[in-house]
Amino acid sequence: MTGTAMYGPAPSTAADRAPTPAPAWVYLLRCADGSLYGGWTNDLARRLKAHRSGKGGARYTKSHGRASVQLAYAEKCADKSAALKREAAIKKLPKAEKEALAAKWRADNAITLRMATPDDAAAVCALYNWYVRHGVQTFQYTPSTVEDYRANIEEVLQHAPFLLAESADGHLRGFACAHLWHTREAYAWDVETTVYCAPDCIGQGVGGRLYRALLALLKKQGYYTAFALVTGSNRQSNDFHRALGFQKMATERRTGYKFGQWLDLDYWRLPLQDGEGEPQPVRKQLTAEEIAEVTG
Ligand SMILES: CC(C)(COP(=O)(O)OP(=O)(O)OC[C@H]1O[C@@H](n2cnc3c(N)ncnc32)[C@H](O)[C@@H]1OP(=O)(O)O)[C@@H](O)C(=O)NCCC(=O)NCCS
Repeated sequence: MTGTAMYGPAPSTAADRAPTPAPAWVYLLRCADGSLYGGWTNDLARRLKAHRSGKGGARYTKSHGRASVQLAYAEKCADKSAALKREAAIKKLPKAEKEALAAKWRADNAITLRMATPDDAAAVCALYNWYVRHGVQTFQYTPSTVEDYRANIEEVLQHAPFLLAESADGHLRGFACAHLWHTREAYAWDVETTVYCAPDCIGQGVGGRLYRALLALLKKQGYYTAFALVTGSNRQSNDFHRALGFQKMATERRTGYKFGQWLDLDYWRLPLQDGEGEPQPVRKQLTAEEIAEVTG
């Protein structure tokens, strides 16, 4: 037996993490009276919530129908300093040019949802591997191969949706899918759900659209419970699951080690059906019409 065969994987260190600049965005919000408000943030979804709730939002949005403000433009910047400069430049633009930015952003970000095929494996794998290399959202150290993803998509489609969100130019913006929670028969009504958005479209509504569609399809199939496993330090995904109605059941402490740190794992649960009676067998496939009703 060789030395390496006797040991598990070497722990990944902080140096193994691909350089990941802190996120920084400039954005425009459409207020209730049609006016545009500009700002910068390191977390679009959280900032939008703050504007809407009035807790920590801007004075301007508070006095312009805060509860109904909508994201009208978002641009990812290299860092905070670049975002501050861009924010100042956008604020100086005449109204017509701000409107042009918002119109182009709307057109570029008009997403459609569709079911994946195994031929989408390369695009899905590239999106997912960004998180393998840069983040602790996944506990995987080694990037997946396209063949892994081809097999993954084929396997998922045998019993659940594998949904893609694409922009008008055909770029993949995100994906969501569900795996069986466990393989023994008594677990046949439970799924584990997964969702990943491309790093440049976080906090812009893509994940929510994908996940709501995925959950609606799983419900139609007759699944009873969706579970999600979320890294404890992944505040974005924990907040996202709470916003989508999941409830946190438990935290597994110090269960993963990646990029030089121990990680907790949070367990989230969402019931998809009511009642305690005997379940019908899950429908493995939905019709094209049933899928289209949800994906639009
Ligand atoms: C987690 C993730 C899928 C969420 O998708 P998203 O497009 O960023 O989220 P959305 O903009 O669609 O937000 C949907 C809801 O979640 C809430 N939410 C999302 N991110 C949030 C944040 N950082 N803070 C507070 N709330 C947040 C939004 O307010 C929104 O609530 P609402 O529908 O009540 O208005 C996405 O951020 C992502 O891909 N992150 C990196 C990969 C990852 O962590 N995947 C999950 C692995 S478990």
